[in-house]
Amino acid sequence: MAGNQERGPSAGAGVTAGEEWAALHRLAEAARATTLRDLFDADPDRADALTVEHDGVTADFSKQRVTGATLAALVALAERAGLRERIDAMFAGEHINTTEDRAVLHVALRAERGTHLVVDGRDVVAEVHEVLDRMRSFSRAVRDGTHTGHTGRRIRNVINVGIGGSDLGPAMATTALLPYTDRSMRFRFLSNVDGDEAWEVLHDLDPAETLVIVSSKTFTTLETVTNARTVRRWLVDGLGGDERAVAAHFVAVSTNAAEVAAFGIDTERMFGFWDWVGGRFSFDSAIGLSLMIAVGPDHFDDLLAGLRSIDAHLRDAPFERSLPVLMGLIGVWNIDFLGASTHAVLPYSHHLARFPAYLQQLEMESNGKAVTLDGSPVGCATAPVVWGEPGTNGQHAFYQLLHQGTVVVPCDFVAFAHPQHEEGRHHDLLLANCFAQSAALAFGRTAEEVAARGAPAALVPHKVMPGNRPSTTLLLDRLTPYTLGQLVALYEHKVLTQGVIWGVDSFDQWGVELGKELAGAIVPDLEAEGAPALGHDASTDALVARARRLRHA
Ligand code: F6P
Repeated sequence: MAGNQERGPSAGAGVTAGEEWAALHRLAEAARATTLRDLFDADPDRADALTVEHDGVTADFSKQRVTGATLAALVALAERAGLRERIDAMFAGEHINTTEDRAVLHVALRAERGTHLVVDGRDVVAEVHEVLDRMRSFSRAVRDGTHTGHTGRRIRNVINVGIGGSDLGPAMATTALLPYTDRSMRFRFLSNVDGDEAWEVLHDLDPAETLVIVSSKTFTTLETVTNARTVRRWLVDGLGGDERAVAAHFVAVSTNAAEVAAFGIDTERMFGFWDWVGGRFSFDSAIGLSLMIAVGPDHFDDLLAGLRSIDAHLRDAPFERSLPVLMGLIGVWNIDFLGASTHAVLPYSHHLARFPAYLQQLEMESNGKAVTLDGSPVGCATAPVVWGEPGTNGQHAFYQLLHQGTVVVPCDFVAFAHPQHEEGRHHDLLLANCFAQSAALAFGRTAEEVAARGAPAALVPHKVMPGNRPSTTLLLDRLTPYTLGQLVALYEHKVLTQGVIWGVDSFDQWGVELGKELAGAIVPDLEAEGAPALGHDASTDALVARARRLRHA
């Protein structure tokens, strides 16, 4: 190891030039000359040796194209990149989000009451618990009917208006924890600026029974502010035009009290969070208010406990036994050394339907970067395209490509020993499919095996299953608030791990800004009376002109 080189915030920069990176390339050459079949044949204990457990989460990495030597080399890479120092710096509240000069403290959102973390002169844990306490009492009041609407009717509908990290987390978790929710209430999520979504969300609701949570870290996001205005108009109109209704029906979740007040929501009705929580890491902050109302404060506490369990594991476990670190490092192996460019997350759980979408933002907005902390080119591939759908639906849609396509897609299978509801044979069938798919991907079927099963010669090449396609299986007991918390924290810390290896700032998102700016310049041209003089690029001008003709025909 190049032990005396400087580490810390910019240690990831230049990691590709180190000896550890070169060693991994040599191991990748060897990996290309062997198969998962060979690896399992050579080591009867492989499944055990490459399975890691922590607090009820089992990760089977044995169907990844790694050996003990690969993992050792990946761990050496993590050490070379300064991962341990970076983890410590995060927990200490150092400003590891360097391009925005901010601490990165989503771990403080689930820190135990009574512990302390002083950042920039403030005890953030105490502040977190103050907000959690306010969320708890408000959630209880909504759930038990103490907090009513303007006309005294009970709240039966909750709409979270937010986008990105202010939508995906609570939306994903409310779906995941549906069996824990108050089924007498309806929870809806309004995110897109597309008015069709607003119509779908609102059209069959009674404003007198509807609570609106406007969730936006900045409170300036175009989609959220536009939707919030539309919902306010719908609500006030539906309640006889009485603007005073806003007070009982609207609350805000934000870091920006001034904008909340400017929107017309009393800051007494605002639940705050802090600039040290990134949007995509915020679902267990006040951004989770809709979720807390849905599942109740006690289940929300269980979720926090699950997150905390993985935080402690990240801090305390050696990298060789650390689930999120291994998930991150094996991802780096697949992307940078075996050439994968996408990653599928395949939950064998109906309730985790939104989990891949949630992870898309978490991974792609965090690590979809091309420069390191010091602004130099990253020099290797970074975040893959993350995607997925629940099994077994995916099996009857896109798994064909996973098995026989020309691109190799590393997969995470996520499964639970118990369903939410035992329903005849369903769960055994579901699990059998999950395990079968990873086996088929790993071991495939050779031409000889296909022929031996009686396939006509002409069909043999079509039926060959190449195998050697890597996957990890995460197996947990049951999907609960606690295990959902564990799953989210695993992926959060996987993102940190990979960001450190690649040397990027995982906590900024400058790449989303240009599109927002350009849209801002196009809006007036679409809305203008008459024929505006267009000054965009030729393609955009033509599209704007065509859209105007169609809209005004
Ligand atoms: O545009 C991207 C983004 O800034 C995300 O990072 C964020 O989660 C989302 O927009 C919503 O932002 P806000 O919570 O400030 O409305």
